Amino acid sequence: MGEVIGSVDIDHLVLAAATAAQGATSRTVLEAVEAEFLGKRSELAGAHRSLGSMDEQARKSAGAVLNAARVQIQQAIEECRVGVEAAERSALLEADRLDLTEVVSSSIASPVRRGHQHVISQTQAELEDVFIGMGFTVADGPEVETDWFNFEALNIPPAHPARGMWDTFYLELGEPETVVLRTHTSPVQIHLMEDAVANDTLPIHAVMPGRCFRRDTPDARHLHTFHQIEGLVIDRGMTFVDLAGVIQTFTTAYFGADISSRLRPAFFPFTEPSAEYEITCTICHGEGCRTCSQTGWIELGGCGMVDPAVLHAVGIDPEEYSGFAFGFGIDRCAQMRHQIADMRALVENDLRFVEQF
Ligand code: DAH
Repeated sequence: MGEVIGSVDIDHLVLAAATAAQGATSRTVLEAVEAEFLGKRSELAGAHRSLGSMDEQARKSAGAVLNAARVQIQQAIEECRVGVEAAERSALLEADRLDLTEVVSSSIASPVRRGHQHVISQTQAELEDVFIGMGFTVADGPEVETDWFNFEALNIPPAHPARGMWDTFYLELGEPETVVLRTHTSPVQIHLMEDAVANDTLPIHAVMPGRCFRRDTPDARHLHTFHQIEGLVIDRGMTFVDLAGVIQTFTTAYFGADISSRLRPAFFPFTEPSAEYEITCTICHGEGCRTCSQTGWIELGGCGMVDPAVLHAVGIDPEEYSGFAFGFGIDRCAQMRHQIADMRALVENDLRFVEQF
């Protein structure tokens, strides 16, 4: 038992105060502990009051003991105050926390998950941007066409062997009109030229993206439903050099300077001369693989100088105007740009594929 002053056991009091302070979980509790052990009505204050009845010698030594006890109690409380305040602050921060990185489960936030554009749509937009940058406008045309637009005006008369190249899904056969799902975007050329003649708005510098359909069996490079971007320039004095320049500029802008392209002589009824446009296969870098049928090249489309017979068909004088046209596969462009070995992946809707773009 320690020193007793005015019936207060001082050591016991200091210990009790320290224990109470350590048990305090908030500043409010700690302030109550402070009032209880150091306040006017505390035992310590009572012991202080008892000093008055002591003789001078005893008062001096008891006073020193009481002061030392007060300092010890104050220190114990101060030490605990630091901890209590830190704990209160972090509790407050925790309660106030706004975690901007938190992923809210979609089933809680909304039953609908936000998606993004499919890689084909992204590719179409990028291709449009490249051509807009070169001064082209973007035009649209119907996916269902009559025989005139899809074939005849493009210099492909009935029973012409070239129709075999575009075997299609017929919606109506013969009377009153043959109607097909368009096999290419070339019929939009006819719409644009007829409109330009009717409205007297030649020249034309346009690209025409859209969906096309062919009775093809899907494989690594073919889909029965696919996309093309058609290009048409009708102006005075156009030559094959203008066509080659546009294609070269496009290749560099879209695929980058290290991709080579080539034009190979070909036949299309609506262009003369005609060419096939090919780039180095990006899957095998020209080595030869399954995707490019071991050739090292991938055909992206056709092109050529608009055949005078086509200009005649729409009422444009081939002596005054000439032009060139091209038609590229959008899906093929996406395939080569992103090195997609098998084009069927584009339409299988496997999210592990779709979410990569
Ligand atoms: N329409 C052709 C096809 O789908 C591609 C084509 C070739 C388009 C030559 C053109 C062109 O505009 O001039 O096979």
